[in-house]
This record gives sequence, C-alpha cells and structure tokens, in this order.
Amino acid sequence: MADTLTITDNRTGTQYEVSIAAGAIRATDLKQIKAGPDDKGLVTYDPAFLNTAACRSRITYIDGDAGILRYRGYPIEQLAEDSDFLETAYLILFGELPTQTAQEDWVRQVTLHTMLHENIKRFMEGFLYDAHPMGIFLSTVGALSTFYPDAKNIFDADSRRTQTLRLIAKVPSIAAYAYRHSIGRPYVYPDNDLSFTGNFLNMLFKMTELKYQPHPVLERALDVLFILHADHEQNCSTSAMRVIGSSHGDPYSALTGAAAALYGPLHGGANEAVLRMLQEIGSVGQVPSFMTKIKKGEGRLMGFGHRVYKSYDPRAKIIKQIADLVFSVTGKNPLLEIALELERIALEDDYFVSRRLYPNVDFYSGLIYQAMGFPLDMFPVLFAIPRTAGWIAQWEEMLLDSEQKISRPRQIYDGEAARDYVPMSKRQG
Ligand code: CMC
Repeated sequence: MADTLTITDNRTGTQYEVSIAAGAIRATDLKQIKAGPDDKGLVTYDPAFLNTAACRSRITYIDGDAGILRYRGYPIEQLAEDSDFLETAYLILFGELPTQTAQEDWVRQVTLHTMLHENIKRFMEGFLYDAHPMGIFLSTVGALSTFYPDAKNIFDADSRRTQTLRLIAKVPSIAAYAYRHSIGRPYVYPDNDLSFTGNFLNMLFKMTELKYQPHPVLERALDVLFILHADHEQNCSTSAMRVIGSSHGDPYSALTGAAAALYGPLHGGANEAVLRMLQEIGSVGQVPSFMTKIKKGEGRLMGFGHRVYKSYDPRAKIIKQIADLVFSVTGKNPLLEIALELERIALEDDYFVSRRLYPNVDFYSGLIYQAMGFPLDMFPVLFAIPRTAGWIAQWEEMLLDSEQKISRPRQIYDGEAARDYVPMSKRQG
C-alpha cells in the first residue's frame, strides 16, 4: 500500500488522502482542501523556506544533525584529502569522478579559457579605486553575458558546456583583476603552466619577477578551501541561481544574482564579518564582555550557527586543520587566540548549546585568508570562485528537470480590500 497521509477537516469531517513520497507531501495536493467557500485551495505558508523542498537533487547531500556533507556521494573529508578543486568541480558538474583522460581534457579546456577579453579590463577600470571587489566581481560576471550572446542557447548541451568552461576558468581571473584594481596594481595575465589555484595566486600576487612560484603549502591550502566551498545544496545563493535561471535567461545573468545573494553577511559575506568582529573584540580579555552582549541579543556571533548544521560544520573541522598548516608558513594570525576563546566559551555556554550553534565554514576561513595576504573585502569573492561550480551544476539540474517550471511562490495577502481611488484634493494628512 502506498504511503499516504490522512487529513481530517474538523469543520466538515471531510477526509483527504495525500501521498507521501521521499519523505514529502506535494504542496499542490493540499489545494483540494478549501479553507472557506471562496478559498481557491489551501497553501502552505513557509517564510524563508524553513521546511520546503523546492527540487529533487542528485548533487549534494547534507545531514545537518550528524554533520555529514557529501558531493555526489563522496564524503567531503575524502575529497579534501585526496582530490583537487578542478577534479571536485568536474564531479559536482558531471556526476562522476573523471577518468585520467577526462581529467586531463577538463584541466586543459579550463586552462584554455582563463583569459578575459581586453574590453573587460577596460570596463573594470571604470570602478572607483575603493570599490568592494565583490561588487566588481558580480557586475563583471553579469557583463560577460554581453560578450557571449550564445549563452542564451540554454537548451543546447554544447553551449552549456562552453559557458561552464568559461565561467569556471574566468571567475578567478575576474576576482584577481578586481583585487589588483583595488590596490592600483596592473592586471596579471594567467600563467597556464600553473595549477588552478597556483595561477590564481599568480594573478593576485605577482610583482616584477619573471615567473611567479606559488608556495606549495598555500597553493594546496587554497585548493582544499575551494573544495570545501564548491557546493552546499539549496542555500540562499543556490536558490537564487535556480530561481533566476528558471525564467530561462543566460547563466551569466543568473550567476550574478547568485553572487549577489552570497555577498550578504548572513551568507558568504560572513567570513569578512568574522574578521571584522575579531578585530573589533581586539583581545582575548574582551571576549567575555562581547559574549554577554551577544547573549543579550546585541548582534550575532559571526561564523556561528547554520540553518541545516545543528552540530559542528564538517567543513569547519577540516579548515581548522588547514589553518595550522598555513600558519606554519605564514606565522600565526594574531586574531586566532580570540577566535579560539570565542569557540571555547560558545561550546560550553548554554545560550549556544541549547540553540545548537556551532562554528560554521566561515569562522576560521577568514583567519587563513588573512594570513595568506588577502584583504578582508576579498573574502566573499574567494567563496564565489569555487561556488561557481555548484551554482552551474544546480542551474543545469534545474533546467533539465521536467518537473521544474518558472519559480513563482504564492503569498498571503494582508493588505487593504478593494477601495476607490481618492483624488489628490480629497486626501487627508
Ligand atoms: N549568534 C547568536 N545567536 C544566534 C546566531 C549567532 N551567530 N545564529 C543564530 N542565533 C540564535 C538566534 O538569535 C535565534 O535565537 P532565538 O531562538 O532566541 O530567537 C536562534 O539562534 C535561531 O536562529 P535563526 O536566526 O532562526 O537561525 P537561521 O537558521 O534563520 O539562521 C544563520 C542561520 C546562519 C543566518 C544564523 O545562524 C546567523 O546569522 N549566523 C551568523 C552569520 C553566519 O555565520 N553566516 C554564515 C553561514 S555558513 C556559510 C554559508 O553557507 O552561507
């Protein structure tokens, strides 16, 4: 017998049978139930999507209670240990780990697309010197749609593949140019002899040397950070990507919206906000009074809490290990002691324990980025580069899902009933 849910309308005694499949009922099945004679059918009310699945997905699995994160079934811990970012991006995008030949071809293709059109450089020169790099980044990604009008062919698999390569390859170049612009240094062209992250470090930090040599520990650390940030199922920015993409625009425009969603301090801007918070606290001695303020509801402990993780974020665990490696090269970030003290108190304090608030991916990542020489306002951009892989994979999955249509939530109207227009001369107040 199929799993069903029986709903009884207590007002009339009418019973309704609603199917349960994959742990869900279909919201449209509730339409058959009327709240009143003129009602068009019951809707579910779920502000901020606390309990609504908007898609079926085969990409990323999270068990927030158990602290589990897997891409295409592979545990994040194994990928962080054994994979590299481009291989993980391939896995997320195409569903399987690549064979040797497929990996070589993928890396070669991405490498071929790292250059930016010279007009993009000129376009970026128009930003003020102190423009936030994330603002430059998302505007430039949006501008790419004007350079690649073929991207509108979203139902052409070859075109989608080309835009995927362009996006994965060009986001580090855009990010690096945004950074160089903000510090008034000339843009550095990609070096195709280097790895994905090695080349990114080259475009950011190369000075007058003939060839930039990335430090292998920092290059690997950044690669692991990119693996950890590559996808995270239906979060705010990914939902933005899917919703915008559902109107069948091009992927550059959709990705601009996703990056804009990521920019906010409650999402990908949290890594920057954590560092600003640590700087504001200033010393370990100030931690108790800062925590008292948080518990009174005066602000949030940035880098703590998560909508789905109600235990330690598995990414934060890995990042803590990488931090030690990076600090062995760069020297310890002086703000680390403050972060460790905040974490120590939070893990014991009833306010945080009872609300199941644990460090998330952003709590320690900023300390690493800062030790590696990135300015604070580059942090959200560093999140956007790897997340591009997840956004594209989720966008394509949405496009090819026969159940998906243009996204269009319902509302509960709380406004005025119908009334007649009042001429200006008769308005009060
Ligand atoms: N500091 C203090 N209290 C908090 C925090 C925090 N960081 N996060 C949640 N709470 C409290 C909140 O005040 C509420 O308490 P009460 O029940 O007394 O009103 C309770 O915990 C539940 O919070 P919520 O706002 O209902 O939780 P949410 O699922 O809507 O928000 C969150 C999730 C990540 C936006 C939130 O935890 C937060 O603002 N954290 C700080 C920002 C941050 O680190 N964001 C990065 C998230 S991980 C990277 C990513 O994927 O974006």
